[in-house]
Amino acid sequence: MRALTIRGHRLEVDERPVPSISGDELLVHVQAAGLNRPDLWRVAGGDPAPPGVPGDVPGLEFAGEVVAAGSETRRFRPGNLVMGLTEGGGHAEYVAVAEDRCAAVPRGLEMTVAGAVPGSFVAAHDALVTQAGLRRGSRVMVHAVASGTGLAAVQVAKLYGCEVAGTTRSPEKVESCRGLGVDRPLQMSRDELPRDWADVVVDLVGGQYLAIDLDVAAPGGWILLMGTMGGTVTPIDLRRLAGKGLTLRGSTLRGRPLPELAAAVAAFERDLAGPLADGRLRPVIAATFPLEEAAAAYDLLRSNRSVGKVVLRLDT
Ligand SMILES: NC(=O)c1ccc[n+]([C@@H]2O[C@H](COP(=O)([O-])OP(=O)(O)OC[C@H]3O[C@@H](n4cnc5c(N)ncnc54)[C@H](OP(=O)(O)O)[C@@H]3O)[C@@H](O)[C@H]2O)c1
Repeated sequence: MRALTIRGHRLEVDERPVPSISGDELLVHVQAAGLNRPDLWRVAGGDPAPPGVPGDVPGLEFAGEVVAAGSETRRFRPGNLVMGLTEGGGHAEYVAVAEDRCAAVPRGLEMTVAGAVPGSFVAAHDALVTQAGLRRGSRVMVHAVASGTGLAAVQVAKLYGCEVAGTTRSPEKVESCRGLGVDRPLQMSRDELPRDWADVVVDLVGGQYLAIDLDVAAPGGWILLMGTMGGTVTPIDLRRLAGKGLTLRGSTLRGRPLPELAAAVAAFERDLAGPLADGRLRPVIAATFPLEEAAAAYDLLRSNRSVGKVVLRLDT
């Protein structure tokens, strides 16, 4: 098979053997696969793959057709269209993946779009709905709102009847976000953000943004720390956290024990498959690239210019 391969921090398309599957796994012929920030870190050598996952083939999400199913699988069969989450190896023509990491592709959803859904929508649904118990009419603030994950959080929040504000560092992206469901797109500037406003802050940046989150959150609100692009260590005023009665919750999909991840995928499917099928949710695709142009796709993500998801097509 053709597989995107990391060679000395550079990307090449290489020939690799098709992976073999164990009893609980599916072999999926990948048609499309989204890029995610951690893919950039893996290429740069800063995000080693967990044991059992090919360390030199990136790719954390995919959509494709099942071509073989292990003896212990219960649901999917060859010919089914699935989308799912991996810890690596998704940017290749075939991926071996535990069945419980997969959801059915909603009827009518284009495969190019489906390949960019699980990483952002399972994460956003799990954090906002399952963990923070999002309520109709809540106010949600999303940092790095134009990212693939940020816009998924926006769509989930809008689906649940929330008012959404979001920050970006780019004036151009403020304009782009106006048409993408963000009620209050804001250029990041601590002084101009609403104070005591958000019932839920979705923080994909971390670092110094955490101190800002303490200002933006309404008393009794939630801060969902989902990313650390801005740094992993930061001083915060603990009196603000305690005095406002805030809940600070860290959340990540990667590295979660399989039963917990399977529950998150099942909850996503229960609540979001319908809205993805009937168009109430419309994942935002920034650009698609054939596998052979994967380096350009990675460059686009790295440039911070993309709005929404960058996707590789593997069926060209
Ligand atoms: N916890 C989870 O389960 C989960 C799941 C998926 C993703 N994530 C996290 O969500 C984050 C976004 O991932 P993604 O793949 O959606 O991103 P993406 O589409 O690549 O977009 C990232 C955007 O973040 C902004 N950004 C980058 N570096 C920044 C920095 N140092 N400070 C502030 N803003 C910065 C840039 O937008 P502007 O230039 O417009 O500001 C950039 O375009 C990552 O941290 C990722 O690990 C977490």
